[in-house]
Amino acid sequence: MRKGAIPHGEAPIILETAADANYALLDCGDGEKLERYGPHRIIRPEAQAIWAKRLPRDDWDKADAIFTGDTDEEGLGRWRFPGKQLGETWEMAFDGIPYFGRFTSFRHVGVFPEQAVHWRHMADRIRASDRQLKVLNLFGYTGVASLVAAEAGAHVTHVDASKKAITWARENQDLAKLSDKPIRWICEDALKFVQREARRGNSYDIILLDPPAYGRGPNGEVWQLFDNLPEMLDTCRDILSERPVMMTLTAYAIRASFFAMHEMMRDVFTGFDRDGAIQSGELIIREEAGDRALSTSLYSRWIAGGPA
Ligand SMILES: C[S@@+](CC[C@H](N)C(=O)[O-])C[C@H]1O[C@@H](n2cnc3c(N)ncnc32)[C@H](O)[C@@H]1O
Repeated sequence: MRKGAIPHGEAPIILETAADANYALLDCGDGEKLERYGPHRIIRPEAQAIWAKRLPRDDWDKADAIFTGDTDEEGLGRWRFPGKQLGETWEMAFDGIPYFGRFTSFRHVGVFPEQAVHWRHMADRIRASDRQLKVLNLFGYTGVASLVAAEAGAHVTHVDASKKAITWARENQDLAKLSDKPIRWICEDALKFVQREARRGNSYDIILLDPPAYGRGPNGEVWQLFDNLPEMLDTCRDILSERPVMMTLTAYAIRASFFAMHEMMRDVFTGFDRDGAIQSGELIIREEAGDRALSTSLYSRWIAGGPA
């Protein structure tokens, strides 16, 4: 092993999200998935479900909303409601924290349920800490992770390039009655933001980053995961505090193995002088009906003291 290199660490470790009162992957197959988001049963395309559906046709026919992807339409127009017409938003909750689900043009509904494992782990670390931790949530989207961190007692900085997403996240904060919690909502290019924090000497105990494969900052900055991730990770490591707790990277919709994330993170943390270990793998959702695993994303995380 190279001098100063971080040990091989643990990979792959598969982190699994199972059904709960708020969410379930009911069934998937034939290029589609049937999920329960709060009160609604929703059908969306799922390229990885190359196997056959397990639930009878009747169960699929009971869906409340189907994503059609109609390219002539926006927002709700891209959805079909076989029963009664549904409103654009509805209430959901993550471990008791309410937030809004929404039918978007991009087929997403405002939350990525597989992140639950990371969020619960983060909340445990925040609660177990002897001080108020500072959390940076990059590419934070609708802010559920930010609310989880704030509710657990952290001081949170949430960064996203989309004004719409920030507005939605603030609505979630109000709905969750967490408006008195310290969350800074920042609409900015994530890479620019961390570079500025490094220049200012600001630091964070926990950094979450869930970048898309491709995205744009509010001023047209281009985010390309394969081009920009190494610089992003180096800068994030540089702004970890003196007593860092974790740095968690997730990547989805990319053609790569978790080893690509793992080896990059090992490089990034080589020579880092705090005790910790890297763990990497895939996030999966376990199907309720058939017990099959649906892989959603790759992750790699550095955890202080190792992944206890
Ligand atoms: C899939 S979402 C992240 C999901 C989120 N971590 C969660 O689990 O709720 C990706 C987010 O990245 C944001 N984004 C895309 N390009 C960006 C950029 N250059 N800087 C900051 N945010 C960006 C998008 O607006 C979007 O909200």
